[in-house]
Amino acid sequence: MNILVIGSGGREHSLTWKIAQSDLTHDLYVAPGNGGMEDIATCVELDAGNHDEIVSFCQEKNIEFVVIGPEAPLVDGLSDRLVSENIKVFGPSASAAILEGSKGFTKDLCAKYNIPTAAYGRFKNAANAKAFVADKGAPIVVKADGLAAGKGVIIAEKVEDANAAIDDIFGGQFGDAGAELVVEEFLSGEEASFFVLTDGKNILPFGTAQDHKRVGEGDTGLNTGGMGAYSPAPVMNDEMIERTINEIIVPTVKGMAEEGRPFKGVLFAGLMITEKGPELIEYNVRFGDPECQCLMMRLKSDIVPLLMACADSTLDQMTAEWSEDVSLNVVMAANGYPGSYKKNTEIKNLAQAGATDNIMIFHAGTKKDGDRTLATGGRVLNITAVAPSVTLAKNDAYQALDKIDWPDGFCRRDIGWRAVERENN
Ligand code: AMP
Ligand code: GLY
Repeated sequence: MNILVIGSGGREHSLTWKIAQSDLTHDLYVAPGNGGMEDIATCVELDAGNHDEIVSFCQEKNIEFVVIGPEAPLVDGLSDRLVSENIKVFGPSASAAILEGSKGFTKDLCAKYNIPTAAYGRFKNAANAKAFVADKGAPIVVKADGLAAGKGVIIAEKVEDANAAIDDIFGGQFGDAGAELVVEEFLSGEEASFFVLTDGKNILPFGTAQDHKRVGEGDTGLNTGGMGAYSPAPVMNDEMIERTINEIIVPTVKGMAEEGRPFKGVLFAGLMITEKGPELIEYNVRFGDPECQCLMMRLKSDIVPLLMACADSTLDQMTAEWSEDVSLNVVMAANGYPGSYKKNTEIKNLAQAGATDNIMIFHAGTKKDGDRTLATGGRVLNITAVAPSVTLAKNDAYQALDKIDWPDGFCRRDIGWRAVERENN
């Protein structure tokens, strides 16, 4: 079968790498892809926002299955359009992708179906939002309702900071995404990412992971898309997994079906494990990046039938086999990220760095220029290792990373610190 993957990040490189290993895959395309994917797929310059262009390409190349990586095309209805053209797709409809597209929608769903999450209010004007903040006190969390590329969440330590965030959001900081906002209680605990595949009715748990969102060591500094991750997340023990499924995932999947918005695809629950147990911070309607890279390294099963079963409503017939090993990845980003950074700087020694069997270097913001690899984005490389423990995977990942010659890039040196502490205690 001919398959098209939509996206250009490390997440899509790892999905494409895994899809390329399937016996079911014939021609494999990725749009637009990046500098690391050219050996495993044909990269094509298509605009995911131009649905006509994507459909024409699928018809011309006989694409039978499209896997959509990022959230924006899902919220924008690309999945619906492909389905209407009889092209099978992995990724939810726009009406279900609202779980990521509107934080207020998700909070209301949680309230209606009794799903544990932080107490909240939804606001369309600053005065009411500020009155809520004054009533609840700080710390408190202010969130733009819509998609804001991971930047729309402000954790306010003081009431004045929350008020300033409210003014900034209603002042247009995030454009239309900030026409409405959510203010919610601050949750303390340990964060974890939990993934399930679902066909709208059945669910298949699809792994746990822990990301490192802050740019600086010791979880300090600005929020980023994620500076490194490992899977599984030890905090998600059997009891927490069972509770998450029963208290959060099942009511969501049932609730979405009842609302006439059946969710088909991967549901990524961002959780806070509090003293009371798992609470939902947010839903994403796609795989996490860089969490996906860790999952793909541990997944032993062929991924194509699993993704297709979400579209075909046959997930009850599927199981997934996982390696017992741990996977850990470290993101290399361009100096200056998440602020401004230089583009087109050269990265050397990638082949040597990735030569070991248990290492994969997934690319994100890179392009090829002849034989040279150039950095074109903020997050640029994911150095990913599998090993029997987090401590070992961490050592191997950094050993590989240290072979890379890229003076214009940096990484955090402490990815996996919580799990390493657990392993060594
Ligand atoms: P989100 O984009 O909703 O995942 O938020 C980004 C990050 O902000 C999360 O990964 C958490 O670290 C933090 N965060 C969001 N909501 C809360 C909350 N209610 N309490 C504590 N931290 C939060
Ligand atoms: N790594 C977090 C995310 O993909 O949203």
